[in-house]
Amino acid sequence: MRLRPLTAQTLNMRTATDIVKLKGQKKIIALTSYTYLFAKIVDELSVVDIILVGDSMSQVLFGERTTATIPLDIMIWCAKSVRKAVKNAMLVFDMPFGTFYSKEVALQNVIKVVKETDVDAVKIEGGSEKEEIISEIVELGVPVMGHIGLLPQKVRISGYKKQGKTEDSAKKILEDARAVEQAGAFTVVLEAVEENLSERITKELKIPTIGIASGDKCDGKIAVLEDIVGLTQPPPKHIKPYDNLAQKIKEIVINYAKENGGG
Ligand code: KIV
Repeated sequence: MRLRPLTAQTLNMRTATDIVKLKGQKKIIALTSYTYLFAKIVDELSVVDIILVGDSMSQVLFGERTTATIPLDIMIWCAKSVRKAVKNAMLVFDMPFGTFYSKEVALQNVIKVVKETDVDAVKIEGGSEKEEIISEIVELGVPVMGHIGLLPQKVRISGYKKQGKTEDSAKKILEDARAVEQAGAFTVVLEAVEENLSERITKELKIPTIGIASGDKCDGKIAVLEDIVGLTQPPPKHIKPYDNLAQKIKEIVINYAKENGGG
């Protein structure tokens, strides 16, 4: 008897095409997950379209000052664990600082990431200057999520500031959005981009825009899970935490210590 071949459907795989089709149909919900534990909780609900193994784990999980210091192999190890949990959302791997500075280096590292983690797509920070690199990765067969506006991997140059406030900066962001789409990205993250500009880009592009700290006019939103559940202390300014899990954990630990003769 021949076994039925595994197809995208039998694997229940979310493809880049599935995500593009959501534009104009519903808001795209994207969240980060860095571990099997949280990814399983989030993915089982089937309300999250994209799960990102973000390089923000550098700060959120490991207390680093910036995202630049996270080693690729640590992110790969985390993504392998997240892959085991994610059955519904599209799983995207955030290429960390220094892993895509040239075409050759980018292709080598993307191949390593896909072979070792089996993620569905990668995210590349940068606009027009990354156009060629993005199109080479897409040509390889790996969908790319773009990321423009505030680039955390370049905070040493820009600082953490709202982007697109001046005419020049708005023009550059618009050019970046067009370049990323032209290169074949299936979606683009707009980080800390002025709301009017986010709206203009969202209307102009055929691919969905996913905003973070960029207002409500994008095709979707992305957030760091630890921020919205109130684990990150203090929460970032642009975030509305929906609860205070850090406080709840403290209360549980105090009760546990008391009940067990400590504290
Ligand atoms: O690393 C990350 O978490 C990100 C998102 C916030 C877009 O890049």
